[in-house]
Amino acid sequence: MAFVSTKKLFEKAYREQYAVGAFNINDMEIIQGVTEAIAEEKAPVILQVSAGARKYARQEYLLHLVRAAMECTGIDCVLHLDHGEDFEICKACVDGGFTSVMIDGSKYPFEENIALTKKVAEYAHSKGVPVEAELGKLAGVEDNVSVADKDAIYTDPAQAEEFVKRTGCDSLAVAIGTSHGAYKFKGEPKLDFERLEKIKKLLPGFPLVLHGASSAPADLVKVCNDYGGNIPGARGVPEEMISQATKMGVCKVNIDTDLRLAMTGAIRKVFAESPGEFDPRKYLGPARDAIKQVVKRKIKFLGCAGKA
Ligand code: G3H
Ligand code: 13P
Ligand code: ZN
Repeated sequence: MAFVSTKKLFEKAYREQYAVGAFNINDMEIIQGVTEAIAEEKAPVILQVSAGARKYARQEYLLHLVRAAMECTGIDCVLHLDHGEDFEICKACVDGGFTSVMIDGSKYPFEENIALTKKVAEYAHSKGVPVEAELGKLAGVEDNVSVADKDAIYTDPAQAEEFVKRTGCDSLAVAIGTSHGAYKFKGEPKLDFERLEKIKKLLPGFPLVLHGASSAPADLVKVCNDYGGNIPGARGVPEEMISQATKMGVCKVNIDTDLRLAMTGAIRKVFAESPGEFDPRKYLGPARDAIKQVVKRKIKFLGCAGKA
């Protein structure tokens, strides 16, 4: 077992038309739940750490916990920085042992995003670490937006081609209608697959990434709401749409919200059913099991079981 790079993982995923799950990790129970599911399903995996996770748990703890999980389960994994916002955080992660980093310059104008991404790619590549970048805005788009509005928000295929050539990035997160969190769509869920197809055609063989790809499954939301939660109208990306994207050059699918829903529902259930319980193992254990179950379900839709 080892920390591995995304390079070979993505080559195989692209060729065989499946995607690798990238799961956000914040604590021991999430790491154990995800890695146990991955080991049982013999799937490849990316464990990703956001700036918020680094602040909450500290990079050193997460690194040691992931090492322990790899020892216990025998799996390989990619340790990835999610949404790195500047050169410094990307450098700290490359220097600290991460095997992949994301520089998210999507909030900057095109040329600034290129300059920042190029700088990170040059540094990371000098240490053998691949770089994910982002182009386009991951905002929820209302049902009735005009084509012009969509063009301003979603990834422009021609720009994507130019961006990849000029930055040297190794994978690209694209905006085609997904967004972060549990409230992704006001009306019917819709992704711009035509745009994805165009991007794929202009960047043949190049791995694309889908952020904001949680499905907010109704059963998980229901458990939260049935046991005292208040998450009305949650709506994610239907699982079949995720499967469709994996056939169109998407090699990495980011999941955080569904882990949060699974964990929260399990804890709420214990608290509601056993108000006298105050042993953390009695609610964090079920939370860990719920994480494991939801990851197994994701693996099915990503098509990556047995691909490790
Ligand atoms: O893309 C965002 C991820 O869900 C991480 O969220 O920044 O709250 O850790 P976070
Ligand atoms: P979700 O909020 O849909 O889980 O997306 C997570 C993500 O994109 C992390 O970078
Ligand atoms: Zn994201």
